[in-house]
Amino acid sequence: MDHCKRAPLRGEIVIPGDKSISHRSIMFGSIAKGTTEITGFLKGADCLSTIGCFRSMGVRIEEAGDRILVHGNGLHGLQAPKETLDCGNSGTTTRLISGILAAQDFSVTLTGDASIQKRPMGRIMEPLAQMGADIQSVQGNGCAPLRICGRPLHGIDYHSPVPSAQVKSAILLAGLYANGETRVTEDSLSRDHTERMLAHFGADVRSEIGPSGCRPAVSNTAATAVIRPARELYGCPVHVPGDISSAAFFIAAGLIVPGSEILIKNVGINPTRAGILTVCRAMGGHITLLNESGASGEPTADLLVRHSSLHGTQIGGSIIPTLIDELPMLAAMACFAEGETIIRDAAELKVKESDRIGVMVQNLKAMGADVTETEDGMIIRGGKPLHGAVIDSKLDHRIAMTFAVASLCAEGGTTILGSQCVDISYPDFYKDLARLTG
Ligand code: S3P
Repeated sequence: MDHCKRAPLRGEIVIPGDKSISHRSIMFGSIAKGTTEITGFLKGADCLSTIGCFRSMGVRIEEAGDRILVHGNGLHGLQAPKETLDCGNSGTTTRLISGILAAQDFSVTLTGDASIQKRPMGRIMEPLAQMGADIQSVQGNGCAPLRICGRPLHGIDYHSPVPSAQVKSAILLAGLYANGETRVTEDSLSRDHTERMLAHFGADVRSEIGPSGCRPAVSNTAATAVIRPARELYGCPVHVPGDISSAAFFIAAGLIVPGSEILIKNVGINPTRAGILTVCRAMGGHITLLNESGASGEPTADLLVRHSSLHGTQIGGSIIPTLIDELPMLAAMACFAEGETIIRDAAELKVKESDRIGVMVQNLKAMGADVTETEDGMIIRGGKPLHGAVIDSKLDHRIAMTFAVASLCAEGGTTILGSQCVDISYPDFYKDLARLTG
């Protein structure tokens, strides 16, 4: 597929729904009493995997135009699925659902595609086992397929070795069913969509952040999420804002393609997700926030992005969880910035849908970039012109989208192998990019 166009990006784009929030709306709606009406839901393959899993546990989930209606079965109303649950490519589905399944009164096996079967599940198996769960890796390699036999659980006080919202959320969901209070502490706060949305569904959940216990404007400090067991959750309307991780590709395209000026509408800017804005500004990027709102329980804004001359920066420490999925795009963007950009403390990238450090470095080098792989990130020396190349996406959606954007400013044509994997999180990506580039 040849994406090499040089026209500036112009006009407006409405970004599709947030993947993390869409997953949670289905999961929490399924175990709530009553109906949850979801607007802005992302109909990407990952979120459809979550719908499939809950349908096979007896939950009625309807598509009604651009709304999704989840007719919840209540906290104890899921039914044993007849077959293995298929989580597809989705780590969020696999890990979060495990927290729920650990407490049911039935047994279940869950698995996913080749990528999911390589991703580490020990990080949820261990804390869930501490809560009393019976959860085994069928092949004994710490990966899916997982066999989970539901059991009565008890609360734990857990210090997570990785700041991971998937780990935190799996434990909090198990905590809904556990005896006593459950606490999860992270050294840097990971995305807090679970805490925010569970509170809307009536759960007794709170965040203890920093020494004063207040929620800071940016997530730069240790945090503990605390949940108490629930009798029931209650279905409620959920409005899913646009996904900043999808907006990231247009933010980068707008900043690097000369002459661009775009308005990216309805983007979720939850501080636990919005690290990309901080970094782009630190690199000299012109991004203006307009129409800020918090009406849906998640802050949103429209982003006005203009082409900017960028310079290198350092990305590391507690900002990393707030931009973890945007690092491939930021790494490619750094090739168009003057000077050096250093990404560190990002070893988690190696266990995403692909090894995103190895895959980024290999593909950036194929385009002629000056980049060095490190143990926990990479060093990019910007300013060297890129040329078109054959890019192996490794079927990782964020890699495919990153290189579609990088190719806009490369000399010659680029072919992205496995380009359709964008369906995981952004089925209309190429169409939207083509529209903005005219
Ligand atoms: C997600 C959390 C992140 C992120 C993933 C979605 C979530 O993973 O990379 O795409 O929905 O909770 P970790 O929490 O494991 O870092």
